[in-house]
Parts: sequence; C-alpha cells; structure tokens
Amino acid sequence: MPEQKFKPVRKAVFPVAGLGTRFLPATKVMPKEMLPINDRPLIQHVFEEARDAGIEEFIFVTGRYKNMLEEHFDFQPELEHTLELRGKVNMLTKVRDSEIPAGKLFLTRQPKPLGLGHAVWCASKIVGNEPFAIILPDDIVNYKQGCLSQMINAYNQHGGNIVAVKDVPRKETSKYGILDICEDKGDTVSIKGLVEKPDPEDAPSTLSIIGRYILQPEIFEYLSIFEKGAGNEIQLTDAMAKMLDKQDFHGLRFKGDHFDCGSRLGFIAANIAYGLNDPEIGEGVKGILKQY
Ligand code: G1P
Repeated sequence: MPEQKFKPVRKAVFPVAGLGTRFLPATKVMPKEMLPINDRPLIQHVFEEARDAGIEEFIFVTGRYKNMLEEHFDFQPELEHTLELRGKVNMLTKVRDSEIPAGKLFLTRQPKPLGLGHAVWCASKIVGNEPFAIILPDDIVNYKQGCLSQMINAYNQHGGNIVAVKDVPRKETSKYGILDICEDKGDTVSIKGLVEKPDPEDAPSTLSIIGRYILQPEIFEYLSIFEKGAGNEIQLTDAMAKMLDKQDFHGLRFKGDHFDCGSRLGFIAANIAYGLNDPEIGEGVKGILKQY
C-alpha cells in the first residue's frame, strides 16, 4: 500500500434536518430525504456514494419528524424473514444493502433551522479532530465513479479542503455558493474567495458549489462564531471563506450528471434519468416518454 500523504477521510456528515417545504404536501409527515429516485430514497443514494468512497462512519444531523431516516438503515428482521421464506433473493440483497452496520451510524439533532453552517457545527463533537466529508442529499450526481470518490482522489493529491463545483448560468448564481477563482487548472481550481448566493451582477464567477465538501476540522472554529450571513442564516460558505487565507481550498469539476433534487423539476429529471438507466425498466420508461 502506498503511504498516505494526508489524514484519511473516514466520516461523512449528512445534514437532514431541512423541512422540504418545496415538496409539500408530500413532505408533511415524510422526510424529503425519503423521496425515492427510482427504487431507493435520496438518503440511500448519498449513503451508497459515501460508502463506495470508503467512508466508515455516517453522521446524520436530524430534526423533528425525521426518525424514518434512521429506521430506513436499520436491520428489519421480519421483512428479511418473509423475503427469505418467499425465495426473493434479489430483494433480500437490496434490503440488506440498505443497512448501516452496528456502530457506524451516529445521530445528532439541529433543534432550530439556523442554517447549513449551524447544522454542520452540530456534528462537531462526533467528527472530532479529523478531515471529514459533507454530503447534501438534495444533490444527486449520476456517474460510474461517485462524486465523493472523485473528490477523495483529488484530496489524496492536494490535501486541504475540496468542494465539488460546476458552472451554472449566471442568472442562477443566487441559488449557490460561488467561487472566486485564483487559478483554473481545468479539472481543479484553486480558490481565493467564496460568496454565498450572490446576485448575478455581483457574482465573482459562475462556478458554483454543489452539495459535496471535504473539510478540515478547523472549520468548526469558524462555525462556532455563529455569525449570520445570506438569508439571515449561519452559512457554511461564510465559514469556509474565513478559512481561505489559512488553508488550501480547491474546487473539483466533478464528472457526471447533477440533479438538484431539492426542486420538483430536478427531482423529476433525476427519476427519468435513473429510470432510463435501469436495465429492468429502462425500455418501459422510454416508451412512456414517447407516449407523452
Ligand atoms: C447550500 C449551500 C450552497 C450550495 C448549495 C448546493 O445551499 O449553502 O452554498 O451551493 O447548498 O446545493 P441550499 O441549497 O441549502 O440553499
């Protein structure tokens, strides 16, 4: 095994306390992270991405009415027994694949919706003093190598802090954290500034952060100032911006199709794309699209 230059990324934080108001009434009692893209909920897509990237410990920052998320990853003996009796081997494999092994799932709560930065800070004691990943389940990336795995490859080269980025139309900069680029090397860019949700005319570029981060634990020092930013919320982007002159920050132009599943249109687009890719139902989905 080659010696690792940088401390490995073993833990991932999943902020899942959000209300999901854009999907009401579907999300009146059901967490938005349980909405399915094809045959698995959003939270399972991102869990699998993290697991495939070598993440060992999964930290959910939850809130009220989110218990279903932890249940989803639990051992379900009655269901497994029934599937076994009926000889449904494929289904059984799928169900077992959605379990998080004992001792690997950690839960903390964000009591009030004070912003993404605050949600991440809520996980600080569980993360401790090591680099960690953050994955926002609203953002789904479809590619043979998962987005976080691509980022961990970049981290193993550069160390420091890495955010996943993509170019967006200028009129959309007010939906994202936007990069002020120092040097553009193609796949990666080094960063000299970060602005949360700037108006198009103020945006330093159109390169925007998609919900994947690898951060050093020093971020918690900046988050614990609890300073409010855009939208009167404690922003992760603002804390990262404060860290820029102390640490290396790179943006990775990841490979793959990105879907913003926090919006209804992005969610439907993701379902179409994953449906078309599915060997069992792909042809059927094509037929439906032609029909409409
Ligand atoms: C959050 C971040 C933003 C980032 C976006 C990616 O915003 O604050 O910087 O670009 O996620 O999805 P939110 O979508 O939670 O408003």
